[in-house]
Amino acid sequence: MQEHVLTPIRDPSEARFEESLRPRSLAEYIGQEKVTANLGVFITAARSRSESLDHVLLFGPPGLGKTTLAHIIAAEMGVDLQVTSGPVLERAGDLAAILTNLQPHGVLFVDEIHRLAPTVAEILYPALEEFTLDLVVGQGPAARTMRLPLPPFTLVGATTRAGLLPPPLRDRFGIVHRLDFYSGDALTSIVRRSAGLLAIRLEDEAASEIAKRARGTPRVANRLLRRVRDFAHAREEAVVSLATAHYGLERLEVDSVGLDDLDRRLLVTAIEHYGGGPVGLKALAASLGEDEGTLEDIYEPYLLQLGFLQRTPRGRVVTVRARRHLGYPAVDGEQKGLFPGEGS
Ligand SMILES: Nc1ncnc2c1ncn2[C@@H]1O[C@H](COP(=O)(O)OP(=O)(O)OP(=O)(O)O)[C@@H](O)[C@H]1O
Ligand SMILES: [Mg+2]
Repeated sequence: MQEHVLTPIRDPSEARFEESLRPRSLAEYIGQEKVTANLGVFITAARSRSESLDHVLLFGPPGLGKTTLAHIIAAEMGVDLQVTSGPVLERAGDLAAILTNLQPHGVLFVDEIHRLAPTVAEILYPALEEFTLDLVVGQGPAARTMRLPLPPFTLVGATTRAGLLPPPLRDRFGIVHRLDFYSGDALTSIVRRSAGLLAIRLEDEAASEIAKRARGTPRVANRLLRRVRDFAHAREEAVVSLATAHYGLERLEVDSVGLDDLDRRLLVTAIEHYGGGPVGLKALAASLGEDEGTLEDIYEPYLLQLGFLQRTPRGRVVTVRARRHLGYPAVDGEQKGLFPGEGS
Protein backbone atom coordinates (compact mmCIF):
# COMPACT_ATOMS: atom_id res chain seq x y z
CA MET A 1 0.00 0.00 0.00
CA GLN A 2 2.76 2.41 0.95
CA GLU A 3 4.41 2.52 -2.44
CA HIS A 4 1.10 3.21 -4.23
CA VAL A 5 -0.11 6.08 -2.15
CA LEU A 6 1.73 8.59 -4.34
CA THR A 7 1.00 7.15 -7.75
CA PRO A 8 -0.84 9.63 -9.94
CA ILE A 9 -2.34 6.72 -11.88
CA ARG A 10 -6.06 6.11 -11.44
CA ASP A 11 -6.96 3.30 -9.06
CA PRO A 12 -10.31 1.75 -10.08
CA SER A 13 -11.19 1.16 -6.42
CA GLU A 14 -11.22 4.94 -5.94
CA ALA A 15 -13.64 5.59 -8.82
CA ARG A 16 -16.72 6.33 -6.71
CA PHE A 17 -14.80 8.64 -4.43
CA GLU A 18 -13.14 10.48 -7.34
CA GLU A 19 -16.50 10.92 -9.00
CA SER A 20 -17.94 12.53 -5.88
CA LEU A 21 -15.09 15.06 -5.69
CA ARG A 22 -15.10 16.05 -9.34
CA PRO A 23 -15.77 19.75 -9.98
CA ARG A 24 -18.84 20.14 -12.22
CA SER A 25 -18.28 23.57 -13.75
CA LEU A 26 -15.43 25.81 -14.88
CA ALA A 27 -16.09 28.03 -11.87
CA GLU A 28 -15.57 25.08 -9.53
CA TYR A 29 -12.42 23.89 -11.29
CA ILE A 30 -9.44 25.10 -9.24
CA GLY A 31 -6.12 26.16 -10.81
CA GLN A 32 -5.06 25.88 -14.50
CA GLU A 33 -6.36 29.45 -14.87
CA LYS A 34 -5.14 29.96 -18.42
CA VAL A 35 -6.84 26.80 -19.62
CA THR A 36 -10.16 27.52 -17.94
CA ALA A 37 -10.17 31.19 -18.98
CA ASN A 38 -9.60 30.28 -22.64
CA LEU A 39 -12.11 27.45 -22.61
CA GLY A 40 -14.67 29.76 -21.02
CA VAL A 41 -14.28 32.24 -23.87
CA PHE A 42 -14.47 29.58 -26.59
CA ILE A 43 -17.50 27.89 -25.01
CA THR A 44 -19.41 31.16 -24.64
CA ALA A 45 -18.61 32.09 -28.24
CA ALA A 46 -19.66 28.69 -29.61
CA ARG A 47 -22.90 28.77 -27.64
CA SER A 48 -23.80 32.27 -28.74
CA ARG A 49 -23.28 31.27 -32.39
CA SER A 50 -25.16 27.99 -31.83
CA GLU A 51 -22.17 26.07 -33.13
CA SER A 52 -20.32 23.08 -31.83
CA LEU A 53 -17.13 23.87 -29.92
CA ASP A 54 -13.86 23.29 -31.82
CA HIS A 55 -12.17 19.97 -31.12
CA VAL A 56 -10.15 20.07 -27.90
CA LEU A 57 -6.94 18.21 -27.10
CA LEU A 58 -5.94 18.02 -23.42
CA PHE A 59 -2.57 16.61 -22.52
CA GLY A 60 -0.43 16.28 -19.44
CA PRO A 61 0.54 13.84 -16.68
CA PRO A 62 -2.10 11.58 -15.05
CA GLY A 63 -4.43 12.87 -12.35
CA LEU A 64 -4.34 16.57 -13.28
CA GLY A 65 -7.97 16.83 -14.36
CA LYS A 66 -8.27 15.97 -18.07
CA THR A 67 -11.31 13.71 -17.68
CA THR A 68 -12.83 16.21 -15.27
CA LEU A 69 -12.45 18.99 -17.85
CA ALA A 70 -14.03 16.87 -20.58
CA HIS A 71 -17.13 16.46 -18.40
CA ILE A 72 -17.14 20.17 -17.62
CA ILE A 73 -16.89 21.12 -21.30
CA ALA A 74 -20.01 19.09 -22.10
CA ALA A 75 -21.85 20.49 -19.09
CA GLU A 76 -20.96 24.08 -19.95
CA MET A 77 -22.00 23.53 -23.57
CA GLY A 78 -25.23 22.05 -22.25
CA VAL A 79 -24.84 18.87 -24.33
CA ASP A 80 -24.46 15.13 -23.84
CA LEU A 81 -21.08 13.50 -23.35
CA GLN A 82 -20.11 10.15 -24.84
CA VAL A 83 -17.06 8.56 -23.27
CA THR A 84 -14.72 6.08 -24.89
CA SER A 85 -11.00 5.46 -25.18
CA GLY A 86 -8.35 4.69 -27.76
CA PRO A 87 -7.77 1.06 -26.78
CA VAL A 88 -11.52 0.30 -26.58
CA LEU A 89 -12.14 1.31 -30.20
CA GLU A 90 -10.74 -1.75 -31.92
CA ARG A 91 -12.42 -1.47 -35.29
CA ALA A 92 -13.50 1.44 -37.47
CA GLY A 93 -17.09 0.22 -37.06
CA ASP A 94 -16.92 0.76 -33.27
CA LEU A 95 -16.20 4.44 -33.79
CA ALA A 96 -18.71 4.76 -36.67
CA ALA A 97 -21.47 3.47 -34.39
CA ILE A 98 -20.67 6.08 -31.75
CA LEU A 99 -20.33 8.95 -34.22
CA THR A 100 -23.67 8.31 -35.92
CA ASN A 101 -25.41 8.34 -32.54
CA LEU A 102 -24.02 11.64 -31.28
CA GLN A 103 -26.40 14.44 -30.34
CA PRO A 104 -25.93 17.60 -32.51
CA HIS A 105 -23.11 19.68 -30.91
CA GLY A 106 -22.53 16.80 -28.49
CA VAL A 107 -19.13 15.97 -27.01
CA LEU A 108 -17.25 12.75 -27.71
CA PHE A 109 -14.50 12.18 -25.16
CA VAL A 110 -11.73 9.85 -26.29
CA ASP A 111 -9.35 9.09 -23.45
CA GLU A 112 -5.85 7.77 -24.25
CA ILE A 113 -6.31 9.03 -27.76
CA HIS A 114 -2.67 8.24 -28.58
CA ARG A 115 -3.66 4.58 -28.52
CA LEU A 116 -6.19 4.87 -31.33
CA ALA A 117 -5.64 2.20 -34.00
CA PRO A 118 -4.57 3.68 -37.37
CA THR A 119 -7.63 2.19 -39.12
CA VAL A 120 -9.88 3.90 -36.59
CA ALA A 121 -8.01 7.21 -36.79
CA GLU A 122 -8.47 7.05 -40.58
CA ILE A 123 -12.27 7.36 -40.39
CA LEU A 124 -11.95 10.01 -37.70
CA TYR A 125 -10.18 12.51 -39.99
CA PRO A 126 -13.09 13.31 -42.35
CA ALA A 127 -15.45 13.13 -39.39
CA LEU A 128 -13.48 15.84 -37.58
CA GLU A 129 -12.99 18.01 -40.60
CA GLU A 130 -16.22 17.85 -42.54
CA PHE A 131 -18.54 15.94 -40.21
CA THR A 132 -18.83 13.10 -42.69
CA LEU A 133 -18.30 9.39 -42.39
CA ASP A 134 -16.74 7.45 -45.25
CA LEU A 135 -17.91 3.88 -44.99
CA VAL A 136 -16.84 1.01 -47.20
CA VAL A 137 -19.86 -1.14 -47.95
CA GLY A 138 -19.61 -4.64 -49.38
CA GLN A 139 -16.53 -6.61 -50.28
CA GLY A 140 -14.29 -7.33 -53.26
CA PRO A 141 -15.22 -5.86 -56.65
CA ALA A 142 -18.69 -4.88 -55.34
CA ALA A 143 -17.22 -2.75 -52.55
CA ARG A 144 -18.05 0.92 -52.70
CA THR A 145 -17.63 3.92 -50.44
CA MET A 146 -20.65 5.53 -48.91
CA ARG A 147 -20.48 9.03 -47.53
CA LEU A 148 -22.77 9.74 -44.57
CA PRO A 149 -23.31 13.15 -43.03
CA LEU A 150 -22.75 13.37 -39.26
CA PRO A 151 -24.19 15.82 -36.76
CA PRO A 152 -21.62 18.51 -35.90
CA PHE A 153 -19.85 17.42 -32.72
CA THR A 154 -16.84 18.20 -30.56
CA LEU A 155 -14.07 15.70 -30.02
CA VAL A 156 -12.28 16.08 -26.71
CA GLY A 157 -9.13 13.98 -26.76
CA ALA A 158 -6.98 13.32 -23.69
CA THR A 159 -3.50 11.91 -23.56
CA THR A 160 -0.49 11.76 -21.30
CA ARG A 161 1.68 11.52 -24.42
CA ALA A 162 0.95 14.22 -26.96
CA GLY A 163 4.21 13.29 -28.69
CA LEU A 164 2.72 9.97 -29.76
CA LEU A 165 -0.22 11.49 -31.65
CA PRO A 166 0.07 11.22 -35.41
CA PRO A 167 0.56 14.79 -36.71
CA PRO A 168 -2.53 14.65 -38.97
CA LEU A 169 -4.65 13.89 -35.90
CA ARG A 170 -3.00 16.52 -33.76
CA ASP A 171 -3.50 19.14 -36.46
CA ARG A 172 -7.24 18.64 -36.40
CA PHE A 173 -7.65 19.99 -32.88
CA GLY A 174 -8.46 23.70 -32.90
CA ILE A 175 -7.94 24.01 -29.13
CA VAL A 176 -4.87 22.40 -27.56
CA HIS A 177 -4.12 22.73 -23.86
CA ARG A 178 -1.39 21.31 -21.72
CA LEU A 179 -2.26 20.80 -18.06
CA ASP A 180 0.56 21.60 -15.66
CA PHE A 181 1.25 20.47 -12.13
CA TYR A 182 -0.75 22.53 -9.62
CA SER A 183 0.79 25.15 -7.38
CA GLY A 184 0.84 24.61 -3.63
CA ASP A 185 -1.89 27.22 -3.20
CA ALA A 186 -4.18 25.63 -5.77
CA LEU A 187 -3.67 22.18 -4.23
CA THR A 188 -4.39 23.57 -0.77
CA SER A 189 -7.68 24.95 -2.09
CA ILE A 190 -8.45 21.57 -3.64
CA VAL A 191 -7.76 19.79 -0.34
CA ARG A 192 -10.01 22.24 1.49
CA ARG A 193 -12.79 21.84 -1.06
CA SER A 194 -12.59 18.03 -0.92
CA ALA A 195 -12.52 18.12 2.88
CA GLY A 196 -15.71 20.18 2.81
CA LEU A 197 -17.43 17.69 0.50
CA LEU A 198 -16.32 14.75 2.64
CA ALA A 199 -17.26 16.53 5.89
CA ILE A 200 -13.68 16.40 7.13
CA ARG A 201 -12.59 19.28 9.34
CA LEU A 202 -8.92 20.13 9.23
CA GLU A 203 -6.56 22.87 10.30
CA ASP A 204 -5.31 25.16 7.53
CA GLU A 205 -1.73 24.03 8.15
CA ALA A 206 -2.80 20.39 7.79
CA ALA A 207 -4.35 21.19 4.40
CA SER A 208 -1.20 22.88 3.14
CA GLU A 209 1.00 20.07 4.44
CA ILE A 210 -1.01 17.52 2.47
CA ALA A 211 -0.88 19.81 -0.58
CA LYS A 212 2.90 20.15 -0.34
CA ARG A 213 3.41 16.41 -0.54
CA ALA A 214 0.88 15.66 -3.25
CA ARG A 215 3.19 15.83 -6.30
CA GLY A 216 1.31 18.78 -7.76
CA THR A 217 -1.54 16.36 -8.50
CA PRO A 218 -5.18 16.68 -7.33
CA ARG A 219 -5.74 12.92 -7.48
CA VAL A 220 -2.84 12.35 -5.07
CA ALA A 221 -3.95 15.23 -2.82
CA ASN A 222 -7.43 13.74 -2.47
CA ARG A 223 -6.00 10.32 -1.71
CA LEU A 224 -3.63 11.67 0.95
CA LEU A 225 -6.50 13.60 2.51
CA ARG A 226 -8.53 10.41 2.91
CA ARG A 227 -5.61 8.53 4.42
CA VAL A 228 -4.78 11.34 6.83
CA ARG A 229 -8.42 11.40 7.91
CA ASP A 230 -8.02 7.76 8.95
CA PHE A 231 -5.09 8.64 11.18
CA ALA A 232 -7.11 11.47 12.74
CA HIS A 233 -9.97 9.06 13.28
CA ALA A 234 -7.67 6.59 15.03
CA ARG A 235 -6.51 9.42 17.28
CA GLU A 236 -10.11 10.46 17.94
CA GLU A 237 -9.34 13.90 16.64
CA ALA A 238 -12.39 15.92 15.52
CA VAL A 239 -10.35 18.45 13.57
CA VAL A 240 -7.32 17.09 11.72
CA SER A 241 -4.27 18.83 13.17
CA LEU A 242 -0.97 19.58 11.50
CA ALA A 243 0.70 17.16 13.91
CA THR A 244 -1.56 14.34 12.78
CA ALA A 245 -1.13 15.21 9.11
CA HIS A 246 2.62 15.06 9.67
CA TYR A 247 2.42 11.81 11.54
CA GLY A 248 0.16 10.18 8.95
CA LEU A 249 2.25 11.30 5.99
CA GLU A 250 5.41 10.02 7.67
CA ARG A 251 3.72 6.68 8.34
CA LEU A 252 2.75 6.52 4.67
CA GLU A 253 6.39 7.20 3.78
CA VAL A 254 5.47 10.28 1.80
CA ASP A 255 8.55 12.43 1.65
CA SER A 256 8.46 16.18 2.39
CA VAL A 257 8.30 17.09 -1.31
CA GLY A 258 6.23 14.10 -2.41
CA LEU A 259 8.96 11.78 -3.71
CA ASP A 260 8.28 8.07 -3.67
CA ASP A 261 10.63 5.14 -3.68
CA LEU A 262 11.09 5.01 -7.45
CA ASP A 263 11.84 8.76 -7.68
CA ARG A 264 14.54 8.30 -5.07
CA ARG A 265 15.96 5.20 -6.73
CA LEU A 266 16.03 7.02 -10.05
CA LEU A 267 18.00 9.93 -8.63
CA VAL A 268 20.31 7.75 -6.55
CA THR A 269 21.04 5.49 -9.54
CA ALA A 270 21.84 8.50 -11.71
CA ILE A 271 24.18 9.82 -9.01
CA GLU A 272 25.89 6.58 -8.05
CA HIS A 273 26.09 4.78 -11.37
CA TYR A 274 26.32 7.66 -13.79
CA GLY A 275 28.10 10.36 -11.78
CA GLY A 276 24.89 12.42 -11.66
CA GLY A 277 24.58 12.44 -15.44
CA PRO A 278 24.21 13.29 -18.19
CA VAL A 279 22.58 9.91 -18.58
CA GLY A 280 20.05 8.77 -21.15
CA LEU A 281 16.58 7.77 -20.02
CA LYS A 282 16.99 4.40 -21.70
CA ALA A 283 20.07 3.58 -19.63
CA LEU A 284 18.32 4.71 -16.45
CA ALA A 285 15.24 2.65 -17.25
CA ALA A 286 17.39 -0.43 -17.85
CA SER A 287 19.29 0.08 -14.57
CA LEU A 288 16.04 0.46 -12.65
CA GLY A 289 14.25 -2.37 -14.42
CA GLU A 290 11.45 0.05 -15.32
CA ASP A 291 9.67 0.88 -18.52
CA GLU A 292 11.17 3.90 -20.27
CA GLY A 293 7.73 5.31 -21.11
CA THR A 294 6.64 5.11 -17.46
CA LEU A 295 9.71 7.03 -16.36
CA GLU A 296 9.19 9.63 -19.05
CA ASP A 297 5.43 10.13 -18.53
CA ILE A 298 4.97 9.67 -14.82
CA TYR A 299 8.21 10.19 -12.95
CA GLU A 300 10.33 12.60 -14.94
CA PRO A 301 7.76 15.42 -15.29
CA TYR A 302 7.48 15.87 -11.54
CA LEU A 303 11.25 15.69 -11.00
CA LEU A 304 11.74 18.31 -13.71
CA GLN A 305 9.06 20.46 -12.10
CA LEU A 306 10.80 20.24 -8.71
CA GLY A 307 14.08 21.23 -10.34
CA PHE A 308 15.60 17.92 -9.27
CA LEU A 309 16.37 16.81 -12.79
CA GLN A 310 17.41 18.73 -15.86
CA ARG A 311 17.12 17.73 -19.47
CA THR A 312 20.21 18.46 -21.52
CA PRO A 313 21.04 17.50 -25.10
CA ARG A 314 23.33 14.80 -23.72
CA GLY A 315 20.85 13.32 -21.26
CA ARG A 316 19.37 13.83 -17.81
CA VAL A 317 21.38 15.57 -15.09
CA VAL A 318 20.68 15.43 -11.35
CA THR A 319 20.72 18.94 -9.88
CA VAL A 320 22.37 20.25 -6.74
CA ARG A 321 18.94 20.73 -5.24
CA ALA A 322 18.18 17.02 -5.61
CA ARG A 323 21.56 16.05 -4.17
CA ARG A 324 20.91 18.20 -1.12
CA HIS A 325 17.43 16.78 -0.69
CA LEU A 326 18.84 13.25 -0.74
CA GLY A 327 21.67 14.15 1.63
CA TYR A 328 24.51 13.95 -0.89
CA PRO A 329 27.33 16.48 -0.81
CA ALA A 330 26.77 19.23 -3.40
CA VAL A 331 28.93 18.43 -6.44
CA ASP A 332 32.40 17.27 -7.32
CA GLY A 333 34.74 19.39 -9.44
CA GLU A 334 34.01 17.58 -12.68
CA GLN A 335 30.33 18.46 -12.57
CA LYS A 336 30.65 22.09 -11.58
CA GLY A 337 29.34 24.40 -14.26
CA LEU A 338 26.58 22.02 -15.27
CA PHE A 339 24.16 23.79 -13.02
CA PRO A 340 23.98 27.38 -14.07
CA GLY A 341 22.46 29.60 -11.46
CA GLU A 342 22.81 27.18 -8.57
CA GLY A 343 25.36 27.63 -5.82
CA SER A 344 27.01 24.57 -4.23
N1 LIG B 1 -8.94 21.48 -11.01
C1 LIG B 1 -9.39 20.61 -10.12
N2 LIG B 1 -10.03 21.03 -9.02
C2 LIG B 1 -10.46 20.16 -8.08
N3 LIG B 1 -10.32 18.81 -8.20
C3 LIG B 1 -9.71 18.34 -9.27
C4 LIG B 1 -9.22 19.20 -10.30
N4 LIG B 1 -8.66 18.44 -11.27
C5 LIG B 1 -8.79 17.17 -10.86
N5 LIG B 1 -9.41 17.09 -9.68
C6 LIG B 1 -9.68 15.85 -8.91
O1 LIG B 1 -8.69 14.90 -9.27
C7 LIG B 1 -9.27 13.69 -9.71
C8 LIG B 1 -8.51 13.21 -10.94
O2 LIG B 1 -8.81 14.01 -12.05
P1 LIG B 1 -9.05 13.39 -13.52
O3 LIG B 1 -9.63 12.04 -13.41
O4 LIG B 1 -9.82 14.39 -14.29
O5 LIG B 1 -7.56 13.31 -14.02
P2 LIG B 1 -7.01 12.88 -15.46
O6 LIG B 1 -6.09 13.97 -15.92
O7 LIG B 1 -8.14 12.53 -16.36
O8 LIG B 1 -6.14 11.60 -15.13
P3 LIG B 1 -5.75 10.36 -16.10
O9 LIG B 1 -4.62 10.83 -16.97
O10 LIG B 1 -5.31 9.28 -15.15
O11 LIG B 1 -6.98 9.98 -16.86
C9 LIG B 1 -10.74 14.01 -9.99
O12 LIG B 1 -11.56 12.99 -9.54
C10 LIG B 1 -11.02 15.27 -9.22
O13 LIG B 1 -11.65 14.94 -7.99
MG1 LIG C 1 -8.68 10.70 -17.14
